[in-house]
Order: sequence, then structure tokens, then C-alpha cells
Amino acid sequence: MTDERMVTVLVAVRAPDEEAAVVTVLGAQPRVKVARRCAELTELLAAAEAGAGTAAVVSGDLPGLDRDAVARLRGAGLRVVALEDPATSAERLAGLGCDVVVTEGDAENLVAAVRGDAPEAAPPPAPAPELEGRPGTIVAVWGPAGSPGRTTTAIELAAALAGVGAAGPRRPGLRRRARPAVPPHGAGTVLLADADTYASSVTSRLGLLDDAPGLAAAARAAGQGVLDVVTLAGHSPVVLPGVRVLTGITRASRWPELSATSLDVVFQRCRSLASWTVVDCGPVLEADELLMYDTRAPQRNGATLSALQAADIVVVVGGADPVGLQRLVRGLEDLRDAAVPVPAARLVVVNRVRESAVGRRAGSQIRDALARYAGVDDVHLVPDDPAGLDAALLAGRVLAECAPTSPARAGFSGLADRVRELVPSGVVGASG
Ligand SMILES: Nc1ncnc2c1ncn2[C@@H]1O[C@H](COP(=O)(O)OP(=O)(O)OP(=O)(O)O)[C@@H](O)[C@H]1O
Ligand SMILES: [Mg+2]
Repeated sequence: MTDERMVTVLVAVRAPDEEAAVVTVLGAQPRVKVARRCAELTELLAAAEAGAGTAAVVSGDLPGLDRDAVARLRGAGLRVVALEDPATSAERLAGLGCDVVVTEGDAENLVAAVRGDAPEAAPPPAPAPELEGRPGTIVAVWGPAGSPGRTTTAIELAAALAGVGAAGPRRPGLRRRARPAVPPHGAGTVLLADADTYASSVTSRLGLLDDAPGLAAAARAAGQGVLDVVTLAGHSPVVLPGVRVLTGITRASRWPELSATSLDVVFQRCRSLASWTVVDCGPVLEADELLMYDTRAPQRNGATLSALQAADIVVVVGGADPVGLQRLVRGLEDLRDAAVPVPAARLVVVNRVRESAVGRRAGSQIRDALARYAGVDDVHLVPDDPAGLDAALLAGRVLAECAPTSPARAGFSGLADRVRELVPSGVVGASG
């Protein structure tokens, strides 16, 4: 629909003759005004955030133009029109989140685009034919602070969903290197993503070498608009039969590499690569922007919020002791009030159930407490199993490999069954 209001345009086009052509074309239109010519991205962002324009025309190859930058422009209320040239494909620019992509020199479409009359940019390319099929399901494993067992749950759930069985003995102490990426094979695979920006631990828990963090690499590719399923597969080596891993950041200080705008795309692509994506989340849910005046600052908890927003199922893990249960009750409230909508179905897990910390008939005491204080009447209990989990920690393996008869393993297998039940029943919709 044609907007009758004035369109004020910020132009950030690299080549001087292309910039002159854009300014001439737009300047000749009624109700269109070129408000600013910006020499670089930072100037464009500053002008946009100062409210100087309603549309931006940018070169596709503008240095620094990535998903975060486009999100900032759109967040400032601008329609982002990108100019495609031979070096920057329309798919990549659409992948950055630009509203419209126009070929350089196409004056007619440029005018329509800044006015909002042009068709929106084509969505990112569909998965390669061999990967097509039902989109995978995303399961976010979240829980409050205090190490209730989020990572353990995420790893064991991933292994159980993939049907990892007991393996033959391996040389103890052998540090396993992630096997090289194999060609993607959509159906039946599980992708385990470590998105904990405070204390990532999947790498060491699975006995992997501290290579470059796969999730950050995938996020970087997404930020540049070039994350397709094959690239994602390259960043997520197969480390167990049927289980790929996107490893987490090696230092907590690297959290800005896991921005929500990029991870939104990563999780979307995960649906095409694997039947199940299990995300180990950090414990904190606050959106920093509520606390800070600088609303453009990167968000420390963006990765967790992105995973929760993308998830079809959130597995909420609490510890089975008085402190852990209290935190779980508050955590469920926090999840309800999270800064992003969390549409997913919840599955509440209480981990490390033991009488020594809760009293006799620990299971029914926990169920009663959660029904009374959190209104949760369906709780999945996982027993405390220090012997099994310590053996897994020591060996850098999952329970199925090193303690197949572990009671905790049985608890996590039961959890996988519950998760599977939620999907075909239509309780959750695996959406693309
Ligand atoms: N069911 C269990 N029985 C015995 N020990 C367990 C069980 N679940 C987890 N653990 C142990 O508890 C410790 C914390 O578990 P884990 O690292 O999974 O928690 P987390 O919530 O991810 O913590 P963090 O805050 O470090 O991310 C680990 O040493 C793990 O082996
Ligand atoms: Mg953890």
C-alpha cells in the first residue's frame, strides 16, 4: 500500500557514481527526501537512531553490514533497502534481514522500495533437496542458577533422543577429537548446541578438544547472511552416533559472539539439519536492555532468550533439594515473565532426587511441593546417581557409553520418551 507520508531516506552507498544516481533518482520523487548521505555504517546507525530517516538505502557490500546492523536499523523504525551487486547476492542480503533487495541501477524498483511498494526480499534459500522433510524440533534445556543439571540433562537427552547405546570399551583417558564433519543427513539426527554464555561445558563433558566454538562460528556466518545448512553441518561435527555438536564459547567473555539476532537464524537452520536440536541454555533470563540506558548494547543473555523463543519444548531443570526447589518455583515464574515470548510447552524435571536432601518419600514430597507452590502437577524425576555421573565426567562420555545401567540414564531416557510424546501428539508444533 502506498504511504502518503513523507519518506526520508538515509543513503549509505559506497561507489560515488552509484550514490549520485540514488540521490538523483530519489530526490526527483514527490514526498521523498534524501535526508543524509552517510560515508559509513556507524554514521548511518547514528543517524537512524537519532530518528533522521524512515528508510535506508545501503550498498550490499557496505563494510560492517551484518544482521545485527540491519536489526538495529529496523529497530530504529527504518525500512532497509539493500542494493545488490555482483559481489553480494540477493540471498545473502535477504539473509541479513533487509526488507527489500534492489538491483543496482534499477531506479523504478528503488523508488517503490523506499516507499514500501516493492515486494519484500525473498526468504533465505530452502534447504538442499536431500535435507527436505519435516522441520526438526527445538528443545531448550533451561533452569535457574545453582547447577541443577542443565548440561547433564541436555547431553543425556540428546544421546537418548539419538538412541546412543552402550559402546564397547575404549581406551580410558583418551581425549577424543570431534570427528570431521560428515555430509548432512537430516532425519534421525540430533544437534546439541551449547548456548550457555556463563559457563559452557559441553566440550569438556564430551571429552572434545577445545577447538573453535562451533556455535559462535555458525552465529558469525548467520550474521553475515551466509549460513546455509551445509555450512551449519560443517560447524557441527558428529561426536556420537547420530549426535552433532555445536560447541560453546571457550571463555565467558566471548558472549558478544552469540548475539540473539544471529542465533535466531542459527536455530532456524538447525531445524533443517537435525530432527532434534537440544540447546543447553545459561541460567539468566533478564534482558539487559531493561537495565541499561544504552538500548543498543549487545545482550548478555541474548543467546538464552533466542533459544527459549525458538523452542518448541522447554525442559526446565531444578535441583532436588530445598534451595533448588525454591529456585525452581521462582524460575518458573521468571520464565512466564521472560522478556521474550516463550511459546513452548514446558516439561519440568527435578534432578538428583535423593532422600538425604528432601526427606523420606522424596519423589512425592517434591511433587506435592511443586503442585502447591508452582501449580505444576506433572514433574519428571531423575534420581541422584553420583557414581554414574562421576564416571561419565571422568571419561568424558555419556552414560550410555560408560554407565549403561545407571539409574540416572533410565531417568533421562524416560525424559526423552516424554519429549517424543509431545511432538507427534500435536501438543507442540515443530515449525520452520
Ligand atoms: N542425576 C545426577 N546425579 C548425580 N550427579 C549429577 C546428576 N545430574 C548432574 N550431576 C552432576 O552435577 C554437577 C552439575 O551438573 P551440570 O553441569 O549438568 O549442571 P548445570 O546446571 O549445567 O551447571 P552450570 O551452572 O555449571 O551450567 C555435575 O558434576 C554433574 O555430573
Ligand atoms: Mg551447564
